[in-house]
Amino acid sequence: MTNPLDYSGKTVLVIGGTSGIGNGIAHGFRMAGAKVLVTGTRGSAGEYPDSDMEGLAFHSLDVSDRDALDAFEWPETLDVVVLCQGIARYGREEFTREGWDAVMEVNLDSLLDCANATRQKLADTGGSLLIISSIGGYRGLVGNPAYGASKAGAISMVKSLGVAFAAEGIRVNGIAPGYVHTKINDAFLSDEKTQKHIISTTPRGRLGLPEDMAGAALFLASPLADYVVGQTISVDGGLSVAS
Ligand SMILES: NC(=O)c1ccc[n+]([C@@H]2O[C@H](COP(=O)([O-])OP(=O)(O)OC[C@H]3O[C@@H](n4cnc5c(N)ncnc54)[C@H](OP(=O)(O)O)[C@@H]3O)[C@@H](O)[C@H]2O)c1
Repeated sequence: MTNPLDYSGKTVLVIGGTSGIGNGIAHGFRMAGAKVLVTGTRGSAGEYPDSDMEGLAFHSLDVSDRDALDAFEWPETLDVVVLCQGIARYGREEFTREGWDAVMEVNLDSLLDCANATRQKLADTGGSLLIISSIGGYRGLVGNPAYGASKAGAISMVKSLGVAFAAEGIRVNGIAPGYVHTKINDAFLSDEKTQKHIISTTPRGRLGLPEDMAGAALFLASPLADYVVGQTISVDGGLSVAS
């Protein structure tokens, strides 16, 4: 009997795999035997001293740059594509048109670009597309209207692409993480009081870890989830269902 979570011989691409959650997901697939490629905005793997880049093939890609996306050399074969790119703007910047557009370009527009660019390769292998949104897509975010709207859009896109790509044998699903301390939220999670408050309101009693998201990603992309289509799983320690 074969292990459904053995990814030996599979090729996995993690857009935004150079940091935080994406980096954890990339290592999850690597440890399960996959060949893993990651992208980030910097020029080389050496420019990520705070991330574990061991065993990951790095390619530079800024998904907000349409020309760069068009010119990008996508891997020849793809079994799993994880769209984990994301930014947020703080200090009320997302209430400005410039801040709104910047967040939407990376967090929402680029999802469609990457999905379109990898669709045929995923169809060729009967692969999986995973979109990382956020429980913020279900909530009101006082300082981040663009981030919240982009994540609500991402959750919706998982449903639409799930339906649109299913006939080609591609399963599209998503993960909505709760709070994981990474560079996207260091601006407020490095504050001890804020962190304590979040932990105290999370039933699991701790922040999330990139490994927690990797577990869900390995399941969703595997044959164990063969009948799961267009779904976003919240991986948030119970935060979103606590009163
Ligand atoms: N951390 C949380 O609590 C949390 C909660 C819910 C959802 N999420 C979502 O999880 C995903 C990963 O976030 P994270 O927490 O791991 O944050 P992170 O550590 O800041 O990682 C963000 C990743 O996105 C990449 N990225 C940013 N702008 C990009 C661009 N223009 N083109 C291509 N790649 C770009 C980054 O590349 P560089 O390394 O080159 O900057 C990095 O690899 C995001 O979609 C985020 O919204 C995070």
